[in-house]
Amino acid sequence: MTSVAANSNAKAEAPRFPIPANVYAETVTSVTHYTDRLFSFRITRPQTFRFRSGEFVMIGLPNAEKPVFRAYSIASPAWDEELEFYSIKVPDGPLTQHLQQIEPGDTVLLRQKATGTLVTDALTPAKRLYMIATGTGIAPFASLIRDPDTYDKFEQIIVTNTCRGNAELAYGDQLIKALGEDPLIGELTDGRISYFSSTTRDESPQTGRITSLIENGGLFEALGAESFDRANDRVMICGSLDMIHDVSELVKAAGLEEGSNAKPADFVVERAFVG
Ligand code: A2P
Repeated sequence: MTSVAANSNAKAEAPRFPIPANVYAETVTSVTHYTDRLFSFRITRPQTFRFRSGEFVMIGLPNAEKPVFRAYSIASPAWDEELEFYSIKVPDGPLTQHLQQIEPGDTVLLRQKATGTLVTDALTPAKRLYMIATGTGIAPFASLIRDPDTYDKFEQIIVTNTCRGNAELAYGDQLIKALGEDPLIGELTDGRISYFSSTTRDESPQTGRITSLIENGGLFEALGAESFDRANDRVMICGSLDMIHDVSELVKAAGLEEGSNAKPADFVVERAFVG
């Protein structure tokens, strides 16, 4: 993991474009690179920007007359004075080929409205909340597990984090580790959060896709639970389209119904950012 602190002179000479109307222009405060495919960054938060933990917002760069915007889950909780994002790096990705080069002091554009279905408002009350993530799909859960509201609504939170390799688990691993020491939320999370990570292409203590680990009971065994149980469990799912589809089928087979902001129910899904 490497953090970037300095700004380069080359960038200061890049052509400048006007900031589009109705868009916030915010300043990058830190960048952390985890692998050649993954990085996170934090930006200043406009005072008037409101969101619910778990929502996403459109972000872009001031590098064109009409900048490319992409949906990003906000990884920081709603009370945080900065905004955090967790992103993949796609070599020819219209946004991420440039975004992966940002440094503290650079400008990131933010549209004004956050939205999304991975919010506790879209679930009916229950005892346990499963947050099932693959890849950068952990971002909205990074927001939710740092929000006291989540602990008001659920007694037990289970976060699953499945990636191709061990190095890709770092963001989630560090997030969970830091929770206990967080002065605002640490005490609240004590004994109430379970973390289950697995890899699919590296050897690790737990290997296998989360779908397999649900089907073969490996997930529940590790948690001392049985299976998904509609009376007690709610589920949030975030990852690739295929992953969302496959996990949803398993959750539906256990009798849970999909919810939304308009009609809260037992589980909700959202696609992780991919481009
Ligand atoms: P796999 O290595 O078997 O493809 P990605 O980085 O491509 O988004 O993948 C993140 C993780 O999601 C990987 O561990 C990958 O496993 C897993 N994955 C991909 N497709 C599915 C799926 N349909 N169901 C469950 N897990 C999946």
